[in-house]
Amino acid sequence: MLRAVTGDAWIQAVLADFDNFLLDHAAAERKAAAMATSFVVQYPDKFALHIPMVRLAREELLHYQQVLALIHKRKLIWERDEKDPYIAGLLPHLSTDKRLRLLDRLLLGSVVEARGVERFGLVAENVADEKLQRFYDRLSKSEATHTELFAKLARKYFDETEIEQRLDHWLDLEAAAIQAVPVRAALH
Ligand SMILES: [Fe+2]
Ligand SMILES: [Fe+2]
Repeated sequence: MLRAVTGDAWIQAVLADFDNFLLDHAAAERKAAAMATSFVVQYPDKFALHIPMVRLAREELLHYQQVLALIHKRKLIWERDEKDPYIAGLLPHLSTDKRLRLLDRLLLGSVVEARGVERFGLVAENVADEKLQRFYDRLSKSEATHTELFAKLARKYFDETEIEQRLDHWLDLEAAAIQAVPVRAALH
């Protein structure tokens, strides 16, 4: 569903500096877990979101734990946490209307997960180490279930036409945001 295909330069940058990629990847998983729990805190009356979002947070934290294990094996030390420029480019586009903001947040979640599917898939296909191939293949498949989860949750609160229209908008924004980020050894 994505409208900008990740080019070869990105995977080459990742393979050339896999240590930095891992450090960034770990941060992305931790932020994904925090984002999932924030839905629970910010939408106390949207019961249908709560348990799926907590489950999602647990899965993202498990990914975080798994990437941390790889970081420890390589004895990598992270520096101060930095904002993800891709996410920072997307967040200002969330609607300020309370009702639409929920739809936007769910669709943003869905498209960001879809980018994870694509990029983890590229790592799985291109990394030399077979264990890492299997790990990133599993992650890619897991993020695909998250893409679908966000879409499913959107359908609980919004009708199909509104979702389609807004998703179309987010797919354009996402393509622009990913292309605006310089190529580097990072998830985005
Ligand atoms: Fe994840
Ligand atoms: Fe995810």
